[in-house]
Amino acid sequence: MALHLINVEESGTDEAELSRFCDEFKLDLTVEYKGGQYWLHSDVERERPISIEIDQELHRHEEYFKRSSIHKELVARAIGIKGPFRPRVLDLSAGLLGDTLLFLALGCEVLALERHPLVSLLIKKALLNAKHPALAKLTFINEDAGHFLESKPQVDTIYFDPMFEDANGKSAPRKEMRIFRHFIGSDHDAKSVFEKAKRLGAKRLVVKRPKHSIALTSEEAVTFLGKATRYDVYLGVR
Ligand SMILES: C[S@@+](CC[C@H](N)C(=O)[O-])C[C@H]1O[C@@H](n2cnc3c(N)ncnc32)[C@H](O)[C@@H]1O
Repeated sequence: MALHLINVEESGTDEAELSRFCDEFKLDLTVEYKGGQYWLHSDVERERPISIEIDQELHRHEEYFKRSSIHKELVARAIGIKGPFRPRVLDLSAGLLGDTLLFLALGCEVLALERHPLVSLLIKKALLNAKHPALAKLTFINEDAGHFLESKPQVDTIYFDPMFEDANGKSAPRKEMRIFRHFIGSDHDAKSVFEKAKRLGAKRLVVKRPKHSIALTSEEAVTFLGKATRYDVYLGVR
């Protein structure tokens, strides 16, 4: 079991950390450097490798919002965007930056956290080569959210999208999530992170869930239902 790097001329401390991680958890990972960023190869050969194409994704959102109102977006309402107000968002689970980039495109300032060394490496490399002006509003930190929350960051909205399956295992994963699950597993501490996030006393705590799955907690939430996704919004919690 090992880390296989393709086209990587210089590997630094991040790669060394990832290599140690592969040894510890007996993982076989293939990561390729191509077009200015890292691509994670799937364990299924015919599947295209995954990467984080930041500038392309931000431009795609930008084009979309030229045609459609930001205020109609379900997630925009869930995180508390109203009129010209844009919340400062703490994204506890950056993953492949899908939601983080959407928040930036919506005009929010975002503090994004990711604890996994593999995912964090993909993010850092992708950020090095990204140039979109919206990135001026992003701070990325490679840290565990439970730990980071102890520093009591000042934010309006806390957003949490853990890989947390309910007992029925109803959260059918997208391809990226399937690959993620293979390498990363489940976020078993999601409930305890939620409790810590609650104690921060932000205006909103938003938890993203697959539409039909159980809530992370029994506390009362306002729900925003999409086609496949649900946002459980906990208001003024402590
Ligand atoms: C379902 S994915 C998030 C997907 C992301 N919202 C997106 O749109 O790409 C969950 C990610 O959150 C990270 N994560 C979960 N719990 C975390 C925690 N307590 N601290 C930091 N990262 C965490 C996992 O390592 C994983 O990469």
